[in-house]
Amino acid sequence: MTGAVPVLAIDGPSGSGKGTISRLVAERLGWQLLDSGALYRIVALVGSRAGLPPDDAAGHADVARTLDVRFGSQTDGSEQVLWGPEAEDITALIRTEEAGMGASRVAAIPEVRAALLQRQRDFARAPGLVADGRDMGTVVFPSAVLKIFLTASSEERARRRHKQLKDKGYGGSLADLSREIAERDARDANRPVSPLRAADDALVVDSTPMGIAAVVDHVLALAGSRGVLPRG
Ligand code: DC
Repeated sequence: MTGAVPVLAIDGPSGSGKGTISRLVAERLGWQLLDSGALYRIVALVGSRAGLPPDDAAGHADVARTLDVRFGSQTDGSEQVLWGPEAEDITALIRTEEAGMGASRVAAIPEVRAALLQRQRDFARAPGLVADGRDMGTVVFPSAVLKIFLTASSEERARRRHKQLKDKGYGGSLADLSREIAERDARDANRPVSPLRAADDALVVDSTPMGIAAVVDHVLALAGSRGVLPRG
């Protein structure tokens, strides 16, 4: 399945800091990165552009199967997402709250999850992969060397997300965002296929009182205890 390539799975709810932590941990290890949430966001965006109703399972599965997407890096090291034959930069478009909601909806469609399974596993290339998502440890990479379930209180997650979006010009209130996050969490945790939950062998890390650097160091220490060491 994942062959001999070691995988570090980082799962958790929205706003737990998974994206930032996964990117920084991948950098420190010199490993590849899979942002699986981006794949669901892209499927939702491309589906909505094609005029698909949110519950069109076959249509969205088709989009997922034929997704022409490339991941790259911006000059500041953050992720860049290019879509289609003309390599349209859709990085900002998939990061909106609307795209997140759409992603949560299409992610509940079993055919979409099935269509994205192998594509996600193909990200596992030497020397290793940090996989960020909701079901990395439970479904996609069950034999990951280390499974982290990163969480934080819902108030703290809403606050972090609000700050992140405000920096990008989002004008909504913290209360609206809290409600949206709660709605998204409930859908992700209660869907019948691959619901958001910690794998039985995952280590739960509560980042509520921690800064980014402390979480990265903690995850690297846990990885070190499994024989995974930073490069250099
Ligand atoms: O991590 P994110 O906010 O970019 O994820 C967007 C949505 O995609 C999230 O609401 C749930 C879904 N998702 C999923 O179901 N499985 C994954 N492995 C990653 C994301």
